[in-house]
Amino acid sequence: MNIETLDQHLRIPLIASPMFLVSGTDLVVECCKNNIVGSFPSVNQRTTASFEEWVQTIKTELAAYNETSDTPAAPYGVNLVVHKTNPRWREDLAVCVKQEVPLIITSLGAATEVVEAVHSYGGLVFHDVTNPYHARKAAAAGVDGIIAVCGGAGGHSGATNPFALVGEIRAFFDGTLILGGALSSGRDIAAALQMGADYAYMGTRFINVQESMAPQAYQDMIVEADSTQIFYTPSVTGVPANFLKPSLIAAGYDLEQLKAPAKVNYGEKLKPPKEGSKTWVDTWSAGHGCGVINDIPKVADLVDRMAEEFKMAIETTFSKANKYIQ
Ligand SMILES: Cc1cc2nc3c(=O)[nH]c(=O)nc-3n(C[C@H](O)[C@H](O)[C@H](O)COP(=O)(O)O)c2cc1C
Repeated sequence: MNIETLDQHLRIPLIASPMFLVSGTDLVVECCKNNIVGSFPSVNQRTTASFEEWVQTIKTELAAYNETSDTPAAPYGVNLVVHKTNPRWREDLAVCVKQEVPLIITSLGAATEVVEAVHSYGGLVFHDVTNPYHARKAAAAGVDGIIAVCGGAGGHSGATNPFALVGEIRAFFDGTLILGGALSSGRDIAAALQMGADYAYMGTRFINVQESMAPQAYQDMIVEADSTQIFYTPSVTGVPANFLKPSLIAAGYDLEQLKAPAKVNYGEKLKPPKEGSKTWVDTWSAGHGCGVINDIPKVADLVDRMAEEFKMAIETTFSKANKYIQ
């Protein structure tokens, strides 16, 4: 698959990003059927064998859909955490090669080894970064796309302003650029293109859809939260990440202590204070976009809405800007 083939299958330039414990087969399949890219982290399944079962389920469901639909489904993606803390990544990569997963989204390591393996069957590799240093390394490793995960993103977020990071990466990388961090609407997708990106990347927005694996209480917390309820700290997972404050408090964390990363070394985390409380399971991550997320729609309805917003935003921008372009 090349980028043109990817584009031909998309209704809007959008990737529903991979989310630990949130993205499963239902979410991925619904996204692809609605012609946006759906993706999930391989580690959402406990073993490489069960990860392969998910890939097979997705392939089977999309093939059945393509038999009857006039519009073929969009390609799906798998996220591989390429790091020594994920001892499975080489085995999971072998599954991706065997099953010819169309898009691989790598986090942490941008290994040439992954790029070569995925290119061997015609797949694409997009690598996520939070700074220009890692973007340069990814470009040197030969990735097909760089995902700029900017300030305000859900999960392990960057802290850099999106205008700054996109501009810095664009100065040395003319490949495919994907923008993530607090994007939630069709208007935001249009804005991402305006800034120089090729695709938008949304996580938090897809926690709150009917097909996500997130529990109802998590989704309700996102509906109720505004951006001031998001707390950025390295102390929960060992890497800077955004969490919903009420979930941190419910897990027994002292926000003042989390605020002071000097008390933990980078890569070190504080033990969840409440007995039995688990990070990601009980402490819920979301990005600043939660402030504009007020519902839990079906993927199909959300994509319809975003496609309409996208079109209106482009038309409005064109009519506003046109008078300045003579
Ligand atoms: C609950 C949650 C879990 C996440 N897990 C992963 C993951 O396993 N792998 C990954 O590459 N990114 C993960 N992310 C980050 C997203 O893929 C994406 O970069 C981010 O959500 C984009 O910002 P947004 O949430 O503001 O849209 C996660 C994000 C959230 C909210």
